[in-house]
Amino acid sequence: MKKDFLDLAQWSRDELESLLTLAAELKAAPEKFSQILAGKSLAMIFKKSSTRTRVSFEVGMFQLGGQAVFMSSAHTQIGRGEPLEDTARVLSRYVDGIMIRTFEHSEVVTLAQHATVPVINGLTDFLHPCQVLTDIFTIKEHLGLALSDLSGLKVAYIGDGNNMANSWMNAALSFGLDLRIACPLGYEPDTTLLERVNHADNAGQVAVVREPMAAAQGTKVLNTDVWASMGQEEEALERRRVFAGYQINDELLLAADQDPLVLHCLPAHRGEEITAAVFERYQDLIFTQAENRLHVQKALLVKLLNKREEKNHE
Ligand code: CP
Ligand code: NVA
Repeated sequence: MKKDFLDLAQWSRDELESLLTLAAELKAAPEKFSQILAGKSLAMIFKKSSTRTRVSFEVGMFQLGGQAVFMSSAHTQIGRGEPLEDTARVLSRYVDGIMIRTFEHSEVVTLAQHATVPVINGLTDFLHPCQVLTDIFTIKEHLGLALSDLSGLKVAYIGDGNNMANSWMNAALSFGLDLRIACPLGYEPDTTLLERVNHADNAGQVAVVREPMAAAQGTKVLNTDVWASMGQEEEALERRRVFAGYQINDELLLAADQDPLVLHCLPAHRGEEITAAVFERYQDLIFTQAENRLHVQKALLVKLLNKREEKNHE
């Protein structure tokens, strides 16, 4: 049976561990894997903008010996209303995998249901699993921890209860994190996911709080995202008012654990969710985080598109 990557929760902890181990091997010795996906193609559907996701998947396929096909909705029949069900069936006859970035999460699910090749979620309004898996890899790498050591790790997320916050809740479930999310009233993350994490055995825990300071207290990782996501441009002004104070700044860092990590999925809005001074102080880690998208997604592509790896899943 084909496997997809729509949601961290679809993969077991062992599968995620194996993926992250492979990502570390790919980062350390990329030349060993230079032909592993020779002859393979990945279609990449973008209904939203992207810098990191597009380039890391495209270059990642090239570095593995395969190729990527960029499909913006504006320049394909998708933008003219061809059903995703048909796009899924057509693309499955040409390519070995499909990556999609879109608005409604249900579109990714529909695409995966109708495709006979693996589908990867490159961001929806609901989730951004490739990013958060990369963030976990970056934390592990920076702190020199095994995946099992992440259990109980304090992570704070400051800002909007959006696709990133929801994916962090999935990460809390998969890796046992102690996650605190600080968001304004009315901007909470998904309640179903929140309950799933807090009611699961052996999972981490998630607390949703109002005060950024309460989330940051004693935390090892501080994490944020833009106040207005793609598709919310018209709300940007109102959101600037609502989110004022939901910012990673020096004061918040003082409340955190000693030597905290500051992560940002990018793009960043300095002076909004993070100050310019904090951003620049942590820029090396933040750009390593961006670089790691390449290594983690290459591991994902090998796991999903390489026939030998597929057999391991059956
Ligand atoms: N972080 C992230 O997904 O960046 P892009 O929107 O540039 O792909
Ligand atoms: N929450 C942001 C993440 C961008 C990578 C957005 O959806 O625009």
